[in-house]
Amino acid sequence: MAQVSDLRFLVTPGGSLQGRLRVPGDKSISHRSIMLSAIAEGETHITGFLEGADALATLAAFRRMGVEIEGPSDGEVRVRGVGLRGLSAPDGPLDLGNSGTSMRLLSGLLAGQSFATTLIGDASLTKRPMRRVTEPLAAMGARIQTTETGTAPLGIEPVSSLSSMQYAMPVASAQVKSCLLLAGLYADGETCVTEPAPTRDHTERMLTAFGYSVRTHGSRVCLKGGGRLQGCRLRVPADISSAAFFLVGASIAPDSDLTLESVGINPTRVGVINILRLMGADIELIDRRIEGGEPVADIRVRSASLKGIRIPEDQVPLAIDEFPALFIAAACAEGETLLTGAEELRVKESDRIQVMADGLARLGIEAEPRADGMRIVGGTLGSTLASEGGAIDAHGDHRIAMAFAIAGLRASGPVEIRDCLNVETSFPGFAGLAAGIGLGIREVRA
Ligand code: S3P
Repeated sequence: MAQVSDLRFLVTPGGSLQGRLRVPGDKSISHRSIMLSAIAEGETHITGFLEGADALATLAAFRRMGVEIEGPSDGEVRVRGVGLRGLSAPDGPLDLGNSGTSMRLLSGLLAGQSFATTLIGDASLTKRPMRRVTEPLAAMGARIQTTETGTAPLGIEPVSSLSSMQYAMPVASAQVKSCLLLAGLYADGETCVTEPAPTRDHTERMLTAFGYSVRTHGSRVCLKGGGRLQGCRLRVPADISSAAFFLVGASIAPDSDLTLESVGINPTRVGVINILRLMGADIELIDRRIEGGEPVADIRVRSASLKGIRIPEDQVPLAIDEFPALFIAAACAEGETLLTGAEELRVKESDRIQVMADGLARLGIEAEPRADGMRIVGGTLGSTLASEGGAIDAHGDHRIAMAFAIAGLRASGPVEIRDCLNVETSFPGFAGLAAGIGLGIREVRA
């Protein structure tokens, strides 16, 4: 079969979003469901698992370490856990593709094993900072190496044990927190991590679901090493980060009325709803419930005229993956939107401040990138086909590709986006689902 080297989105302008939709499973929770069930005792039955490339990279890594995993099939996975000490050495490097979550969380889980591992990834992952995990892990006694520039490949050597640690994180990062908690499972004594601002707490919730004791006091979370996880049933909610494109799309497109089903609304993830509401969005949470230890609701969103705001900095970690979509909302809002305190966006799957500013400029929007954020003046979105330079470049970043696809709803001409293949990492079937509710999107493979 011919290798597809590029996927482009072609979006015809206008339209509205209508109907009901369930977006795929939460990526963060899907990763953790495999990691924790693999080192649990007994079987775990997972439903709603995200069958996207990132979560599948985590799944493949555990298969290579001797864990029997059935599925995924229609979001259903059965994992036969091997216990905390039951993993075996893989027969070569573990390739984690584009997935920062896989690499950072696995580095913690593998740091205390009795066998060596090497973690590798694609060109984007190989540029991302890894010292934020390797330095605290080394302080716990791990033998872990990065390249000279602090990036992957990561080489992990076996150790007989890790020591527990009290760690105050310099960055608000759920990946760092989770990495250290997973390493803490293999440490003598109690490991505690303090975060400078609240970040997603899926690891803590899921450990509890597996019967592992986790203590949280305000911004500090602690666990003792050497306990046991007990296999369980897990239901993965729909990913609010994937829903975000439609929350923005239905807000900016006239005559829209869309309901997104069973979306995770964990308080550490709802920054996108809070920010859109501050901008004037019409978002209703229906039938709030708890599923698998996580709060879930159906979300109804209708068109609204948005206004520019100064985004409160305390919302930044709670919406960290949603800024590509939020920047499109800002571009369609009346007046100026200012984001500060978001320098982390520069080290995501792409430099999301620069790449979004470049794409918005191509659509004729005034977007001023700053070291830690962006100033965007709302206006009329143009088209890319007619402009010089042609298509918007998503730089292989799934969320940039989907954000600009949604922008087509308010563009004055067609919008073309290139380098969209990685949409598969978090949202397989995005174009088909989006087309089904009214976006004029077509995929072109070359
Ligand atoms: C994630 C944490 C966030 C987020 C990423 C997923 C997680 O990263 O951007 O997409 O699953 O823990 P940081 O911890 O680097 O902020």
